[in-house]
Amino acid sequence: MSKSGPTLQFLTGIKQFEGRQLLYCVRAPKDMSREKQINHEPLDEHIVFHAHGITKVYQMGEVQVHALRGIDLDLYRGEFTVLLGASGSGKSTLLNILGGLDTPTEGHVYYGERDLTRATESELTEYRRFHVGFVFQFYNLIPSLTARENVALVTEIASAPMEPEHALKLVGLGARMDHFPAQLSGGEQQRVAIARAIAKNPDVLLCDEPTGALDSKTGISVLEALHRVNQESGTTTAVITHNAVIAQIADRVIYLADGQISDIRINETKLAPGEVTW
Ligand SMILES: Nc1ncnc2c1ncn2[C@@H]1O[C@H](COP(=O)(O)OP(=O)(O)O)[C@@H](O)[C@H]1O
Ligand SMILES: [Mg+2]
Repeated sequence: MSKSGPTLQFLTGIKQFEGRQLLYCVRAPKDMSREKQINHEPLDEHIVFHAHGITKVYQMGEVQVHALRGIDLDLYRGEFTVLLGASGSGKSTLLNILGGLDTPTEGHVYYGERDLTRATESELTEYRRFHVGFVFQFYNLIPSLTARENVALVTEIASAPMEPEHALKLVGLGARMDHFPAQLSGGEQQRVAIARAIAKNPDVLLCDEPTGALDSKTGISVLEALHRVNQESGTTTAVITHNAVIAQIADRVIYLADGQISDIRINETKLAPGEVTW
C-alpha cells in the first residue's frame, strides 16, 4: 500500500522516546479506512488499531439499545487521542471493544494483523494482559497494598515490564511509593493506576474518564502524567472524556454523538495539560 497519496492528509511531529527523537505522523483516518476496506491489505506499521463498521446493539428485554452505529476508526502508534462525546454517546462501549473487554455486534477491529472480533476468549485474555493498559474513572487499587506493591502485582505477570519504581517516577510519585491508597489523594491514586497500567509496557493505554472523579487541579496533574508517559514512552494513548477542554491537549480528537463519529479533528496547536483549566 502506498504510504502517501493525494487523498491523504499528513501531520508529522517529533516526540522524545527513550532519549531518541521519534517522528510520528497522523493521517486523515476516513481515507485510510476506506482504503483498507477495499484492499484488505496488511495494516500500515503506523496503525495500532483499525476498526471498521463497528456496531453494538444491547438487547434490554424488548428494547434494543444501539450503542454504536457504524464506527470506522484508526489509531496511530504514539498518538495521543481524545474521544469526546456526551454521556451515552458510546465512548465506553467503543473503548471496551478496542480493549478486548467487549465484542461488537458487527464489524471488525484489527490490532496489528489480528482481528479481535474473531479472537477466542483465551486470546482476548492474552491480548488484554500483555498489550493493553486500562485506566478507569475509579482507580481500583488494592487498599492493603502500597503504591509500589499495587504496580508490582501487574509487573509480576507481564512479559517485559518496567520496574514499578520507574513507572511511579514517570507519573510523579517517586516520593510516594510506600504509601497506601488511603494515604494518597484522589489524583495520586489515579496516577498509581496509570503507573500500574503502563508498567507492563502496553502497546496502547486506554483511559475511560480518568479525570471524571477529580477536581480541575488534580485532574490536570493526572493529564500531565498521561501526557508525560505518552511523550517519554511513546505509548499510544486514547482518553475518553465528556469535557471539551481536555480535547485541547490531544494530537487528534474523535467526536462521538449517538453512537457515531460526528467529526475528527487534528489539533495543529495543542496545549500542554498545565495550560488548560475547567
Ligand atoms: N451493558 C449495557 N447494557 C445495555 N445498554 C448499555 C450497556 N452499556 C452501555 N449501554 C447503553 O449504550 C449507550 C452508550 O453507552 P456508553 O458507551 O456507556 O456511553 P458513554 O461512555 O459515552 O457515556 C447508552 O445508551 C447506554 O445506556
Ligand atoms: Mg462512559
